[in-house]
Amino acid sequence: MTMRAHITGWGKFVPAQVLTNDDLTQIVDTSDEWIHTRTGIAERHIASDDETTSTMALQAARQALGVAALKPSHLDLIIVATATPDYLFPSTACLVQDALGASRAAAFDLSAGCTGFVYGLSVAADLISSGAYENALIIGAETLSRIVDWSDRATCVLFGDGAGAVVLQANGAEGGVLSTVLGSDGSGANLLRLPAGGSYEPASHHSVAEGRHYLKMRGREVFRFAVRTLPAATRLVLERAGLTLAELNLVIPHQANQRIIEASTRSLGLPPEAVFSNLERYGNTSAASIPIALCEAIEKKRVKQNDLLVCVGFGAGLTWGATAVRWSMPLPPQPISPWRRIWQKLRYFYAAARSSVRRLLRWLLALGTNWKGSDGHTNHDK
Ligand code: COA
Repeated sequence: MTMRAHITGWGKFVPAQVLTNDDLTQIVDTSDEWIHTRTGIAERHIASDDETTSTMALQAARQALGVAALKPSHLDLIIVATATPDYLFPSTACLVQDALGASRAAAFDLSAGCTGFVYGLSVAADLISSGAYENALIIGAETLSRIVDWSDRATCVLFGDGAGAVVLQANGAEGGVLSTVLGSDGSGANLLRLPAGGSYEPASHHSVAEGRHYLKMRGREVFRFAVRTLPAATRLVLERAGLTLAELNLVIPHQANQRIIEASTRSLGLPPEAVFSNLERYGNTSAASIPIALCEAIEKKRVKQNDLLVCVGFGAGLTWGATAVRWSMPLPPQPISPWRRIWQKLRYFYAAARSSVRRLLRWLLALGTNWKGSDGHTNHDK
Protein backbone atom coordinates (compact mmCIF):
# COMPACT_ATOMS: atom_id res chain seq x y z
CA MET A 1 0.00 0.00 0.00
CA THR A 2 1.26 3.52 -0.81
CA MET A 3 1.85 5.40 2.40
CA ARG A 4 0.96 9.08 2.63
CA ALA A 5 2.03 11.59 5.26
CA HIS A 6 -0.95 13.06 7.12
CA ILE A 7 -0.90 15.91 9.64
CA THR A 8 -2.52 14.37 12.72
CA GLY A 9 -1.39 16.78 15.46
CA TRP A 10 -0.54 20.47 15.81
CA GLY A 11 0.48 22.88 18.54
CA LYS A 12 1.93 26.32 19.12
CA PHE A 13 3.58 28.29 21.88
CA VAL A 14 4.38 31.97 22.19
CA PRO A 15 5.97 33.70 25.19
CA ALA A 16 3.64 35.68 27.47
CA GLN A 17 5.65 38.89 27.20
CA VAL A 18 4.28 41.24 24.50
CA LEU A 19 6.21 44.13 22.93
CA THR A 20 3.96 46.64 21.16
CA ASN A 21 4.93 49.15 18.49
CA ASP A 22 4.49 51.89 21.10
CA ASP A 23 6.93 50.05 23.40
CA LEU A 24 9.43 50.07 20.52
CA THR A 25 9.23 53.85 20.24
CA GLN A 26 10.93 53.94 23.67
CA ILE A 27 13.87 51.92 22.25
CA VAL A 28 14.44 53.25 18.70
CA ASP A 29 13.38 56.22 16.57
CA THR A 30 10.18 54.76 15.08
CA SER A 31 6.40 55.05 15.29
CA ASP A 32 3.40 52.75 15.42
CA GLU A 33 2.20 54.39 12.21
CA TRP A 34 5.46 53.61 10.32
CA ILE A 35 5.64 50.00 11.49
CA HIS A 36 1.96 49.29 10.91
CA THR A 37 1.71 50.81 7.44
CA ARG A 38 5.03 49.34 6.19
CA THR A 39 4.71 45.87 7.71
CA GLY A 40 1.22 45.26 9.17
CA ILE A 41 2.77 44.39 12.54
CA ALA A 42 1.24 45.77 15.77
CA GLU A 43 2.97 43.63 18.41
CA ARG A 44 5.23 40.63 18.88
CA HIS A 45 5.98 38.14 21.69
CA ILE A 46 9.42 38.18 23.29
CA ALA A 47 11.01 35.30 25.21
CA SER A 48 11.77 35.81 28.90
CA ASP A 49 15.27 35.07 30.23
CA ASP A 50 14.40 31.46 31.04
CA GLU A 51 12.73 30.75 27.67
CA THR A 52 14.82 29.44 24.78
CA THR A 53 14.17 27.89 21.39
CA SER A 54 14.15 24.37 22.91
CA THR A 55 11.76 25.24 25.76
CA MET A 56 9.27 26.83 23.34
CA ALA A 57 9.70 23.98 20.84
CA LEU A 58 8.96 21.51 23.64
CA GLN A 59 5.67 23.22 24.58
CA ALA A 60 4.49 23.24 20.96
CA ALA A 61 5.60 19.61 20.52
CA ARG A 62 3.71 18.41 23.61
CA GLN A 63 0.52 20.04 22.33
CA ALA A 64 0.94 18.49 18.89
CA LEU A 65 1.54 15.02 20.35
CA GLY A 66 -1.51 15.50 22.59
CA VAL A 67 -3.76 16.29 19.61
CA ALA A 68 -2.37 13.30 17.69
CA ALA A 69 -2.72 11.08 20.80
CA LEU A 70 0.77 9.79 20.02
CA LYS A 71 3.26 8.64 22.65
CA PRO A 72 6.69 10.32 22.28
CA SER A 73 8.27 6.86 22.40
CA HIS A 74 6.50 6.09 19.09
CA LEU A 75 8.21 8.96 17.26
CA ASP A 76 10.74 7.92 14.61
CA LEU A 77 11.95 11.39 13.71
CA ILE A 78 12.17 14.89 15.19
CA ILE A 79 13.15 17.86 13.01
CA VAL A 80 13.57 21.33 14.49
CA ALA A 81 13.73 24.05 11.86
CA THR A 82 15.44 27.05 13.38
CA ALA A 83 17.93 29.85 12.77
CA THR A 84 18.28 30.43 16.51
CA PRO A 85 19.14 27.04 18.07
CA ASP A 86 20.01 26.87 21.78
CA TYR A 87 23.58 25.90 20.76
CA LEU A 88 25.44 25.46 17.46
CA PHE A 89 25.65 21.90 18.70
CA PRO A 90 24.14 19.76 20.12
CA SER A 91 21.03 20.24 18.02
CA THR A 92 17.91 21.71 19.57
CA ALA A 93 16.10 18.64 18.21
CA CYS A 94 18.18 16.42 20.54
CA LEU A 95 17.24 18.59 23.53
CA VAL A 96 13.58 18.23 22.58
CA GLN A 97 14.00 14.47 22.00
CA ASP A 98 15.41 14.06 25.52
CA ALA A 99 12.76 16.22 27.22
CA LEU A 100 9.96 14.38 25.43
CA GLY A 101 11.42 10.94 26.16
CA ALA A 102 11.27 10.12 22.43
CA SER A 103 13.61 7.20 23.02
CA ARG A 104 13.71 5.79 19.49
CA ALA A 105 13.62 8.99 17.42
CA ALA A 106 16.32 10.32 15.12
CA ALA A 107 16.69 14.07 15.72
CA PHE A 108 18.28 16.90 13.81
CA ASP A 109 18.06 20.65 13.25
CA LEU A 110 17.34 22.08 9.85
CA SER A 111 18.72 25.41 8.65
CA ALA A 112 16.74 26.98 5.82
CA GLY A 113 15.88 30.36 7.38
CA CYS A 114 12.20 31.22 7.41
CA THR A 115 11.55 28.40 4.90
CA GLY A 116 12.80 25.85 7.45
CA PHE A 117 9.41 24.51 8.48
CA VAL A 118 8.36 23.87 4.86
CA TYR A 119 11.71 22.16 4.20
CA GLY A 120 11.18 20.00 7.32
CA LEU A 121 7.64 19.08 6.31
CA SER A 122 8.86 18.05 2.87
CA VAL A 123 11.79 15.93 4.14
CA ALA A 124 9.61 14.19 6.73
CA ALA A 125 6.76 13.57 4.26
CA ASP A 126 9.18 11.96 1.80
CA LEU A 127 10.71 9.75 4.53
CA ILE A 128 7.21 8.65 5.49
CA SER A 129 6.00 7.95 1.95
CA SER A 130 9.22 6.00 1.24
CA GLY A 131 8.27 3.68 4.11
CA ALA A 132 11.38 4.56 6.17
CA TYR A 133 9.43 6.13 9.03
CA GLU A 134 5.88 6.14 10.38
CA ASN A 135 5.72 9.01 12.87
CA ALA A 136 7.51 12.35 12.63
CA LEU A 137 7.45 15.58 14.61
CA ILE A 138 8.31 18.76 12.72
CA ILE A 139 8.87 21.91 14.73
CA GLY A 140 9.61 25.49 13.71
CA ALA A 141 10.96 27.44 16.68
CA GLU A 142 12.81 30.74 17.04
CA THR A 143 14.16 33.12 19.66
CA LEU A 144 14.95 35.91 17.21
CA SER A 145 14.93 38.51 19.99
CA ARG A 146 18.37 37.16 20.98
CA ILE A 147 19.98 37.90 17.58
CA VAL A 148 18.20 41.14 16.75
CA ASP A 149 20.12 44.40 17.10
CA TRP A 150 17.79 46.39 19.34
CA SER A 151 19.41 49.64 18.17
CA ASP A 152 18.65 48.96 14.47
CA ARG A 153 15.13 50.24 13.74
CA ALA A 154 15.17 48.74 10.24
CA THR A 155 15.17 45.18 11.63
CA CYS A 156 14.24 45.12 15.33
CA VAL A 157 10.63 46.11 14.66
CA LEU A 158 10.04 43.10 12.41
CA PHE A 159 10.72 39.98 14.45
CA GLY A 160 9.16 37.97 17.29
CA ASP A 161 9.66 34.70 19.19
CA GLY A 162 7.60 31.51 19.26
CA ALA A 163 7.23 27.90 18.17
CA GLY A 164 4.82 25.72 16.22
CA ALA A 165 4.78 21.98 15.61
CA VAL A 166 2.98 19.30 13.65
CA VAL A 167 2.90 15.52 13.87
CA LEU A 168 3.05 13.71 10.53
CA GLN A 169 1.91 10.07 10.43
CA ALA A 170 1.93 7.38 7.77
CA ASN A 171 -1.48 6.33 6.53
CA GLY A 172 -2.71 4.66 3.36
CA ALA A 173 -5.76 6.97 3.10
CA GLU A 174 -6.05 9.59 0.34
CA GLY A 175 -4.88 13.10 1.18
CA GLY A 176 -2.18 14.43 3.47
CA VAL A 177 0.93 15.98 1.91
CA LEU A 178 0.29 15.95 -1.86
CA SER A 179 3.32 17.72 -3.31
CA THR A 180 6.26 19.91 -2.35
CA VAL A 181 8.53 22.49 -3.94
CA LEU A 182 11.90 23.44 -2.47
CA GLY A 183 14.35 25.96 -3.90
CA SER A 184 17.52 27.84 -3.08
CA ASP A 185 19.74 30.61 -4.45
CA GLY A 186 22.92 31.12 -2.44
CA SER A 187 23.90 34.10 -4.57
CA GLY A 188 21.53 36.00 -2.28
CA ALA A 189 23.22 34.75 0.91
CA ASN A 190 24.34 38.29 1.83
CA LEU A 191 20.80 39.69 1.82
CA LEU A 192 19.85 38.16 5.15
CA ARG A 193 22.48 36.75 7.47
CA LEU A 194 24.20 36.56 10.84
CA PRO A 195 27.78 37.41 9.89
CA ALA A 196 29.72 36.29 12.99
CA GLY A 197 29.73 33.33 15.35
CA GLY A 198 30.35 30.65 12.71
CA SER A 199 33.57 29.24 11.26
CA TYR A 200 33.91 32.17 8.82
CA GLU A 201 34.12 34.73 11.61
CA PRO A 202 34.31 33.06 15.02
CA ALA A 203 33.25 35.00 18.11
CA SER A 204 35.87 37.50 19.19
CA HIS A 205 35.91 40.75 21.16
CA HIS A 206 36.11 42.51 17.82
CA SER A 207 33.11 40.72 16.25
CA VAL A 208 30.99 41.43 19.32
CA ALA A 209 32.08 45.08 19.52
CA GLU A 210 31.16 45.49 15.84
CA GLY A 211 27.71 43.98 16.44
CA ARG A 212 28.35 41.24 13.90
CA HIS A 213 26.49 38.66 16.01
CA TYR A 214 23.27 40.44 15.10
CA LEU A 215 20.98 39.72 12.17
CA LYS A 216 21.70 41.90 9.09
CA MET A 217 19.18 42.35 6.29
CA ARG A 218 18.81 44.23 3.03
CA GLY A 219 15.07 44.65 3.37
CA ARG A 220 14.12 46.03 -0.04
CA GLU A 221 15.89 43.24 -1.93
CA VAL A 222 14.36 40.58 0.32
CA PHE A 223 10.97 42.18 -0.30
CA ARG A 224 11.39 41.96 -4.08
CA PHE A 225 12.56 38.34 -3.82
CA ALA A 226 9.55 37.46 -1.64
CA VAL A 227 6.84 38.92 -3.87
CA ARG A 228 8.32 37.06 -6.85
CA THR A 229 8.80 33.75 -5.06
CA LEU A 230 5.59 33.31 -3.04
CA PRO A 231 3.19 33.24 -6.01
CA ALA A 232 5.60 31.20 -8.18
CA ALA A 233 6.08 28.49 -5.52
CA THR A 234 2.32 28.37 -4.83
CA ARG A 235 1.53 27.86 -8.52
CA LEU A 236 4.24 25.22 -8.95
CA VAL A 237 3.25 23.14 -5.92
CA LEU A 238 -0.36 23.01 -7.14
CA GLU A 239 0.76 22.08 -10.63
CA ARG A 240 2.84 19.21 -9.18
CA ALA A 241 -0.24 17.98 -7.31
CA GLY A 242 -2.29 18.15 -10.53
CA LEU A 243 -4.52 20.85 -8.99
CA THR A 244 -5.45 24.44 -9.79
CA LEU A 245 -5.74 27.72 -7.90
CA ALA A 246 -9.53 27.44 -8.23
CA GLU A 247 -9.46 24.32 -6.02
CA LEU A 248 -7.38 25.99 -3.30
CA ASN A 249 -9.13 26.69 0.03
CA LEU A 250 -6.42 28.44 2.05
CA VAL A 251 -2.85 29.63 1.61
CA ILE A 252 -0.76 29.80 4.79
CA PRO A 253 2.18 32.00 3.82
CA HIS A 254 5.27 32.87 5.80
CA GLN A 255 4.30 35.85 7.95
CA ALA A 256 6.95 38.47 7.20
CA ASN A 257 5.13 41.54 5.94
CA GLN A 258 1.46 42.22 5.20
CA ARG A 259 2.45 44.04 2.00
CA ILE A 260 4.26 40.90 0.78
CA ILE A 261 1.17 38.81 1.58
CA GLU A 262 -1.17 41.26 -0.18
CA ALA A 263 1.04 41.62 -3.27
CA SER A 264 1.28 37.82 -3.57
CA THR A 265 -2.48 37.44 -3.08
CA ARG A 266 -3.12 39.93 -5.92
CA SER A 267 -0.55 38.25 -8.14
CA LEU A 268 -2.29 34.88 -7.64
CA GLY A 269 -5.69 36.47 -8.27
CA LEU A 270 -7.02 35.13 -4.94
CA PRO A 271 -9.55 36.87 -2.67
CA PRO A 272 -7.98 38.18 0.59
CA GLU A 273 -9.91 35.61 2.67
CA ALA A 274 -8.10 32.77 0.84
CA VAL A 275 -4.77 33.80 2.40
CA PHE A 276 -4.25 33.57 6.14
CA SER A 277 -2.48 36.34 8.02
CA ASN A 278 -1.76 36.74 11.73
CA LEU A 279 1.51 38.68 11.69
CA GLU A 280 -0.20 41.71 13.20
CA ARG A 281 0.10 40.04 16.63
CA TYR A 282 3.31 38.02 16.22
CA GLY A 283 5.62 39.79 13.76
CA ASN A 284 7.95 37.60 11.76
CA THR A 285 8.74 34.46 13.79
CA SER A 286 10.80 32.98 10.95
CA ALA A 287 10.60 29.15 10.86
CA ALA A 288 7.84 29.24 13.49
CA SER A 289 5.51 31.51 11.54
CA ILE A 290 3.82 28.94 9.28
CA PRO A 291 3.05 26.32 11.99
CA ILE A 292 1.83 29.07 14.36
CA ALA A 293 -0.39 30.43 11.57
CA LEU A 294 -1.66 26.92 10.75
CA CYS A 295 -2.67 26.39 14.41
CA GLU A 296 -4.48 29.73 14.48
CA ALA A 297 -6.23 29.03 11.19
CA ILE A 298 -7.52 25.78 12.72
CA GLU A 299 -8.57 27.55 15.95
CA LYS A 300 -10.43 30.17 13.91
CA LYS A 301 -12.23 27.43 11.91
CA ARG A 302 -10.59 28.54 8.67
CA VAL A 303 -9.63 24.90 7.96
CA LYS A 304 -12.13 22.07 7.36
CA GLN A 305 -11.73 18.39 6.60
CA ASN A 306 -10.84 17.80 2.90
CA ASP A 307 -9.68 21.41 2.42
CA LEU A 308 -6.75 22.00 0.10
CA LEU A 309 -4.05 24.08 1.84
CA VAL A 310 -0.75 25.44 0.61
CA CYS A 311 1.98 26.36 3.11
CA VAL A 312 4.49 28.59 1.37
CA GLY A 313 7.63 30.30 2.63
CA PHE A 314 10.79 32.18 1.71
CA GLY A 315 13.83 33.27 3.66
CA ALA A 316 17.54 33.41 4.30
CA GLY A 317 19.74 31.37 2.02
CA LEU A 318 18.00 32.45 -0.09
CA THR A 319 15.48 29.65 0.16
CA TRP A 320 11.84 29.12 -0.72
CA GLY A 321 9.38 26.27 -0.54
CA ALA A 322 5.74 25.22 -0.66
CA THR A 323 3.72 22.20 0.42
CA ALA A 324 0.22 21.30 -0.77
CA VAL A 325 -1.82 19.43 1.83
CA ARG A 326 -5.27 17.84 1.60
CA TRP A 327 -6.46 18.19 5.20
CA SER A 328 -7.64 14.76 6.33
CA MET A 329 -8.28 15.13 10.07
CA PRO A 330 -11.80 15.79 11.39
CA LEU A 331 -12.05 19.23 13.03
CA PRO A 332 -12.26 20.27 15.78
CA PRO A 333 -10.06 17.52 17.22
CA GLN A 334 -11.27 15.26 20.03
CA PRO A 335 -10.81 17.07 23.37
CA ILE A 336 -8.07 15.55 25.52
CA SER A 337 -9.64 13.91 28.58
CA PRO A 338 -8.39 14.94 32.07
CA TRP A 339 -7.03 11.41 32.57
CA ARG A 340 -5.01 11.56 29.40
CA ARG A 341 -3.63 14.94 30.45
CA ILE A 342 -2.49 13.42 33.74
CA TRP A 343 -0.89 10.50 31.87
CA GLN A 344 0.92 12.92 29.57
CA LYS A 345 2.26 14.89 32.56
CA LEU A 346 3.45 11.67 34.21
CA ARG A 347 5.10 10.59 30.96
CA TYR A 348 7.06 13.86 30.73
CA PHE A 349 7.97 13.62 34.41
CA TYR A 350 9.27 10.10 33.73
CA ALA A 351 11.23 11.39 30.69
CA ALA A 352 12.93 14.03 32.87
CA ALA A 353 13.71 11.44 35.57
CA ARG A 354 15.06 9.01 32.96
CA SER A 355 17.31 11.71 31.53
CA SER A 356 18.64 12.59 34.99
CA VAL A 357 19.35 8.92 35.78
CA ARG A 358 21.23 8.51 32.48
CA ARG A 359 23.35 11.59 33.28
CA LEU A 360 24.04 10.26 36.76
CA LEU A 361 25.07 6.84 35.41
CA ARG A 362 27.37 8.50 32.87
CA TRP A 363 28.90 10.59 35.64
CA LEU A 364 29.39 7.52 37.85
CA LEU A 365 30.93 5.61 34.95
CA ALA A 366 33.36 8.48 34.30
CA LEU A 367 34.18 8.61 38.01
CA GLY A 368 34.83 4.85 38.06
CA THR A 369 36.99 5.04 34.93
CA ASN A 370 39.03 7.92 36.35
CA TRP A 371 39.48 6.05 39.62
CA LYS A 372 40.68 2.98 37.69
CA GLY A 373 42.96 5.27 35.67
CA SER A 374 44.58 6.63 38.83
CA ASP A 375 45.25 2.98 39.76
CA GLY A 376 47.16 2.56 36.48
CA HIS A 377 44.70 0.10 34.87
CA THR A 378 43.05 2.34 32.23
CA ASN A 379 44.76 4.20 29.42
CA HIS A 380 42.54 7.09 28.21
CA ASP A 381 44.52 7.46 25.01
CA LYS A 382 43.35 4.07 23.78
N1 COA B 1 10.77 53.36 11.74
C1 COA B 1 10.82 54.52 11.06
N2 COA B 1 11.53 54.68 9.93
C2 COA B 1 12.21 53.60 9.48
C3 COA B 1 12.20 52.36 10.16
C4 COA B 1 11.45 52.28 11.34
N3 COA B 1 11.36 51.15 12.06
N4 COA B 1 12.98 51.48 9.48
C5 COA B 1 13.45 52.13 8.41
N5 COA B 1 12.99 53.40 8.42
C6 COA B 1 13.25 54.47 7.44
C7 COA B 1 14.56 54.27 6.71
O1 COA B 1 15.62 54.81 7.44
C8 COA B 1 14.29 55.05 5.43
O2 COA B 1 14.48 56.40 5.68
P1 COA B 1 15.17 57.36 4.59
O3 COA B 1 14.25 57.29 3.40
O4 COA B 1 15.21 58.66 5.27
O5 COA B 1 16.51 56.74 4.33
C9 COA B 1 12.80 54.82 5.20
O6 COA B 1 12.24 54.42 6.45
C10 COA B 1 12.50 53.79 4.14
O7 COA B 1 13.27 52.64 4.44
P2 COA B 1 13.17 51.34 3.55
O8 COA B 1 14.09 50.31 4.11
O9 COA B 1 13.33 51.72 2.13
O10 COA B 1 11.66 50.94 3.83
P3 COA B 1 10.78 49.85 3.13
O11 COA B 1 9.53 50.47 2.64
O12 COA B 1 11.57 49.01 2.18
O13 COA B 1 10.36 48.92 4.35
C11 COA B 1 10.96 46.82 5.34
C12 COA B 1 11.37 48.25 5.10
C13 COA B 1 12.07 46.14 6.12
C14 COA B 1 9.68 46.84 6.17
C15 COA B 1 10.70 46.12 3.98
O14 COA B 1 11.79 46.35 3.12
C16 COA B 1 10.50 44.65 4.14
O15 COA B 1 9.55 44.21 4.76
N6 COA B 1 11.36 43.83 3.53
C17 COA B 1 11.26 42.41 3.61
C18 COA B 1 11.82 41.97 4.93
C19 COA B 1 11.49 40.55 5.25
O16 COA B 1 10.45 40.07 4.94
N7 COA B 1 12.43 39.89 5.91
C20 COA B 1 12.28 38.58 6.37
C21 COA B 1 12.51 37.60 5.29
S1 COA B 1 12.21 36.00 5.86
